[in-house]
Amino acid sequence: MLTSNARSAVSASLSGQGFVLFLGDCHSLLKAIPPGSIDLIVSSPPYFMGKDYDRSSKVEDFEYQHEELAPLLNRALRDGGSLCWQVGVHVRNGSIVPLDFLAYNAFSKQPSMRLRNRIIWHFDHGMHAKRRFSGRHETILWFTKGESYTFDLDAVRVPQKYPGKRHYKGPRKGEYSGHPSGKNPGDMWSVPNVKARHIEKTVHPCQFPVAIPQRLIRALTPAGALILDPFAGVSSSGIAASIEGRRFIGCEIDPQYAEVGIERYRQLLAGTLNVREWDRPVDLPNPRQSVARRPAHFGRQGYGAAT
Ligand SMILES: C[S@@+](CC[C@H](N)C(=O)[O-])C[C@H]1O[C@@H](n2cnc3c(N)ncnc32)[C@H](O)[C@@H]1O
Repeated sequence: MLTSNARSAVSASLSGQGFVLFLGDCHSLLKAIPPGSIDLIVSSPPYFMGKDYDRSSKVEDFEYQHEELAPLLNRALRDGGSLCWQVGVHVRNGSIVPLDFLAYNAFSKQPSMRLRNRIIWHFDHGMHAKRRFSGRHETILWFTKGESYTFDLDAVRVPQKYPGKRHYKGPRKGEYSGHPSGKNPGDMWSVPNVKARHIEKTVHPCQFPVAIPQRLIRALTPAGALILDPFAGVSSSGIAASIEGRRFIGCEIDPQYAEVGIERYRQLLAGTLNVREWDRPVDLPNPRQSVARRPAHFGRQGYGAAT
């Protein structure tokens, strides 16, 4: 459901509605959520870079917004719940400010917040920089509220690099050395970002792929948990939550993005929404394809022109 009344959004969500979107400012929604109601907050806030939806293009406003948000997010989260915050960099006159540093400063002032991982989200597409290396990663800060928390590693294991590898000495000699269900995915995730040809692309200029919240939801929450995204955009976190059998409450200030989010949810229910599988490896061009051939000017070894 989509509503512009924060109280109705919260009461619908707490009485069991699976997908609720509040159209409005996230501060109003956060204030209406009873303390300790949310299992996982997963979101990507505005970077204050002058996009249509940014209130300003000053990084100081990002900082100020996060100082305000931190106690509200902390209050909404249950003990043992998680907060996952996905950000990149703010660019000012060609120099960059890592936004996760600022978010970390704000969130870590909350006495019960513990940082568990700083995940690097790596992707291959984006602007080509001319006076610095092109930005090809953003980060996700994963905090828990308190010391005891949910972490279901088995739900997100990935295939071993060498599945047939065995111990070569010691009491377990000859046995497989890796975990039979696959390995821990680690804290560097390669997931294609949503550019023009991505199957999840909508009108939103900065949506994240469903795979990012989906892996977090699988690992950090039990079935039926309540997931909050205060900057929902086109509800990619809501789509991930619904696929994983969790409930979702989101907030989006722009009516067009909120409508697209609702439409994506309808399509998901109808089985017509395109979503890239959360564990699908990145496609690499086959060396036989012409697009993957090394240009002649790189030389045979790749260290300068061929002699
Ligand atoms: C980086 S985008 C999030 C995109 C989202 N992860 C997705 O996949 O679609 C940030 C979103 O926050 C929304 N927004 C900005 N300020 C807001 C506020 N105060 N309350 C709620 N939403 C807001 C913007 O309209 C924008 O869609």
